[in-house]
Amino acid sequence: MKPTNSPKTYRVKSFGCQMNVYDGERMAEMLGERGIVPAPEGEDADLVVLNTCHIREKAAEKVYSDIGRLTKGKTQDKAPMIAVAGCVAQAEGEEIMARAPAVSMVVGPQAYHRLPEMLDRAVQGERATDTDMPAIAKFAALPERKRTNPASFLTVQEGCDKFCTYCVVPYTRGAEISRPYGDLVTEARKLVDAGAKEITLLGQNVSAWSGEDDKGHAVGLAGLIRDLAKVDGLARIRYTTSHPADMDDDLIAAHGEIDKLMPFLHLPVQAGSDRVLKAMNRSHTAESYLRLLERFRAARQDLALSGDFIVGFPGETDAEFEETLKLVDAVGYAQAFSFKYSPRPGTPAASMEGQVAKEVMDERLQRLQAALNRDQWAFNRATEGRTCEVLVERKGKHPGQWLGKTPWLQSAWFEGDVGIGDLVQVELVEAGPNSLAGRLRERVAA
Ligand code: SAH
Ligand code: SF4
Ligand code: F3S
Repeated sequence: MKPTNSPKTYRVKSFGCQMNVYDGERMAEMLGERGIVPAPEGEDADLVVLNTCHIREKAAEKVYSDIGRLTKGKTQDKAPMIAVAGCVAQAEGEEIMARAPAVSMVVGPQAYHRLPEMLDRAVQGERATDTDMPAIAKFAALPERKRTNPASFLTVQEGCDKFCTYCVVPYTRGAEISRPYGDLVTEARKLVDAGAKEITLLGQNVSAWSGEDDKGHAVGLAGLIRDLAKVDGLARIRYTTSHPADMDDDLIAAHGEIDKLMPFLHLPVQAGSDRVLKAMNRSHTAESYLRLLERFRAARQDLALSGDFIVGFPGETDAEFEETLKLVDAVGYAQAFSFKYSPRPGTPAASMEGQVAKEVMDERLQRLQAALNRDQWAFNRATEGRTCEVLVERKGKHPGQWLGKTPWLQSAWFEGDVGIGDLVQVELVEAGPNSLAGRLRERVAA
């Protein structure tokens, strides 16, 4: 590649989970430290970072088509410098470099702290790939948090040792690691100083987080949440994603004891059939999952539940799929995500017998989503008439309209004299399938 001018503007496009979004923000901060500014809306960027996801479907093909659109001037007039980051970069870095000469940098999710050095080399005309996995070193090398949204993410745990047979995460993110307690408390304080009112603690298995507090005592996620709840100015705490195997009594109790811990639990089950769960290498049964939820609900009665589902895992029969519907009926989720099984290269399930036909998966997904949508709307309707706290996150579509989140993570919109980051009391007036219309009652001090 030819040497080129240093980029002056950037755009980071994140395609994946909340941790992928968090990584995108941290990459943007690093570029900001270098004096590179975000490209204004609608204008070309000199540097585009494609922060990719590998979890499902044709994620890799999407990267190539994005690169094609950028280089052929379909996305912007002038071809930018391109960096591919995220989980596709980790899984297919070499292929990307070989197949896409327009890409200057490939950087994995545990190596992006080295993006500035790679950028220097790219400006000299050198292409660079870095897919090392020094997870903790990454965090230490990132700049301080200075700017954030009222609802912010904080990665506390990365990687996964669970090896569900369908999933790429253990390969793209590496082994489970917990970030040190002190670093997390510091980062949380910085986020609050920068304007965060709510922090969602992130991890592929966030409930497996463990550490030592400043007195040298062993603490788990509940202990961390307890201490973060003491941070002045922080009003709300959430965490995601949990695995049913790592939920301990302390975390269950925390839901009943800590006001700042929001009444919401995302706890993926994936399927309702014990045979399928076993083949997935999930360590729970439908029954043990339901019992666990009961304990959470006993600790916090208004807890809203969320989950993830996969339909059409290899070998799943019609009767086994019916068990998923049965479980959904038993839980009554406030919201949930559901996906068609997608064979991921290198995972055990990809080579299992009994791959399910696409039409069968389509039909199952439709039925499952109909049930989940029904329950979500029912949950929203059950909160009609309540007055609750809403964190204002952004302006709505119409002038004077605002959008925020209820404690149960529902989107609520309303009109009034408020600003982004305000915590306000809103009466939930009318429930829709995906959001609620509200009426502003009063502002509350943060
Ligand atoms: N660590 C979390 C989330 C992992 S990815 C957990 O264990 O729950 C988010 C969701 O994507 C998963 O919960 C699963 O429902 C879905 N998913 C993962 N791999 C998939 C695959 N190969 N095909 C379809 N969905 C998948
Ligand atoms: Fe993937 Fe399973 Fe780990 Fe979740 S627990 S990240 S689904 S391997
Ligand atoms: Fe996707 Fe990687 Fe997250 S594969 S879901 S971006 S951990």
